[in-house]
Amino acid sequence: MCGIVGYVGNKPASGILLDALEKLEYRGYDSAGIAFAGRDGIKVYKTCGRIKQLREIIAEESKSDSSRDGEFTVGIGHTRWATHGRPSDNNAHPHCAHSGKVAVVHNGIIENYLELRAFLEAHGHTFSSDTDSEVVSELIDYYYSGDPVSAVRRAEMQLKGSYALGILFSDYPWQIMAIRKDGPLIVGLGKDENMIASDIPALLKHTRDIFRLGERELAILTKDGVTVMDSYGERIQHEFEHIDWDIDAAEKCGYPHFMIKEIMEQPDAIMKTIGPRIHDGKIDLGLKHISEEDLKGITSIKIVGCGSAYHVGMVEKYYMRHLLGIPVDAELASEFRYDSPIIDEHTLVIIISQSGETLDTLYGLREARKRGARVISIVNVVASSIANESEDVLYTWAGPEISVATTKAYSTQLVLIQLLSLHMAYIKGTIDEKQLSASVDELMAIPKMLSDMLKKVEPIQYLASQYFNSQDVFFIGRNMDYSLSLEASLKLKEISYIHSEAYAAGELKHGSISLIEDGTLVIALCTYRPLLEKMVSNIKEVKARGAKVIAVINHDDDETENVADHVIRLPECGTLSLPSLTIVPLQLFAYYIASLKGCDIDKPRNLAKSVTVE
Ligand code: F6R
Repeated sequence: MCGIVGYVGNKPASGILLDALEKLEYRGYDSAGIAFAGRDGIKVYKTCGRIKQLREIIAEESKSDSSRDGEFTVGIGHTRWATHGRPSDNNAHPHCAHSGKVAVVHNGIIENYLELRAFLEAHGHTFSSDTDSEVVSELIDYYYSGDPVSAVRRAEMQLKGSYALGILFSDYPWQIMAIRKDGPLIVGLGKDENMIASDIPALLKHTRDIFRLGERELAILTKDGVTVMDSYGERIQHEFEHIDWDIDAAEKCGYPHFMIKEIMEQPDAIMKTIGPRIHDGKIDLGLKHISEEDLKGITSIKIVGCGSAYHVGMVEKYYMRHLLGIPVDAELASEFRYDSPIIDEHTLVIIISQSGETLDTLYGLREARKRGARVISIVNVVASSIANESEDVLYTWAGPEISVATTKAYSTQLVLIQLLSLHMAYIKGTIDEKQLSASVDELMAIPKMLSDMLKKVEPIQYLASQYFNSQDVFFIGRNMDYSLSLEASLKLKEISYIHSEAYAAGELKHGSISLIEDGTLVIALCTYRPLLEKMVSNIKEVKARGAKVIAVINHDDDETENVADHVIRLPECGTLSLPSLTIVPLQLFAYYIASLKGCDIDKPRNLAKSVTVE
């Protein structure tokens, strides 16, 4: 989703802003732009296309006017991911009001922009783009009569929807302003320089001291300091958080793509997620607000998320139901929030989100809280909106995930929700101490098993080389294998652009089997032993129609091996660790296929890392 950056300091702003925008490329974008504030007013550069083009345009301009080079030390920048209006130079941000006095970069969606646009047009304002964002610069300009704080606040009060805004005023070329609602915006404090950005990697080169701007808070940044006001205009003080990630965590470190780096980081990430929560064989989640007594009283569970986070819920619902003996459902956040969910104080809603900013998930969380449910979130990005608004939060501590297609976040969400399930089962008395300790040992063994698997990627590379020209790929499985198929299929299609579907294997003959023809690739997940025979029948059905079959197995099983064309063999393991091990070769399969096809793996077309719009 769109990325915002802003810089105010003593150094030339252009290189800093361009570098920072590059760090946000992973969010997905189709155009980029920068506005500088200087003694001659606001200067905007923007283009449809990549940041490289923007860099060239700015370099060209400073060559033709050498007096400008290094002149600007204050600016805001943006990568746009088109929502309203196609990708074009005009629709790119920043948007500068026609008066030339105000420039704005915006992430989010202004829901009432047509109404505001009509109002502004009736008052003589004109528009150059098709975007919802341009109303913001014109609206601030409409209210501006010398006091930028009042203009921004009055305009902001008229906006419906979600927004993170960076704002420049030509009359105040020494400052940038920022305000947000339902979209991320981080303030970074440096020495004689301060910055804003949508995400931490954009700031790391300049500062490690950050805070997240709260809902509707307004920040004014100069090179000497940052002032923050709440929505009543009262000045507030934020505690700064020191980011201690190794900067390598946000770099590729010799890997060709972030995705493969993050796949390889999974053993480590899983250890960081579970290790600190196990003490003497017992689980300590450190929940602050939901007590053991509260958990005992839970009679149903809803797991809510989008995309891969939802797929984690799909895997876990089977396990949780079995372990706790209560109804557990996985819900798509975009459906849940509008579905008048039947939940109450005895329902535990588990919200899952890597970014902690996915708008549908955030609204799902608010719906759950409004209806009185108990809410625990599983989040990667510390102090993100979902983390902040949850009753209790469990961080995955997976480190920054840059690749748009999630891998290590998915894997860490999976083990963390398993820990939560075990913890609840122990409290509710559905497992005893011995079972708990055996389960904890099994989870703790995952990193080593994964790390061994990740040393032998050649068989997966071979399979990718055989099938990277496929037009369609079907994934089938039953029970947890079906849920894992959903994730495997999403991974493949999102980065390789190969059409792919996941089916509950028993559903095939109810329609979709008509799509199978000579050479169609079917990947059959056969790890769920109670239904193995049924899976073998399903494989035979598709083979009879000409399919090529790769079977994923975790045990010696001649029959499956004989009937499939290829097998991916997993190490022997228990049911708890099985999902974590099963997904990894399928992530690798998607990665190597996309790599052979020459796809833009870390930034697949049309996709964004953090989906802050509906
Ligand atoms: C797929 C993927 C997405 C995200 C989804 C939710 O590889 O990354 O499906 O899982 O957009 O994002 P978060 O977890 O940030 O809420």
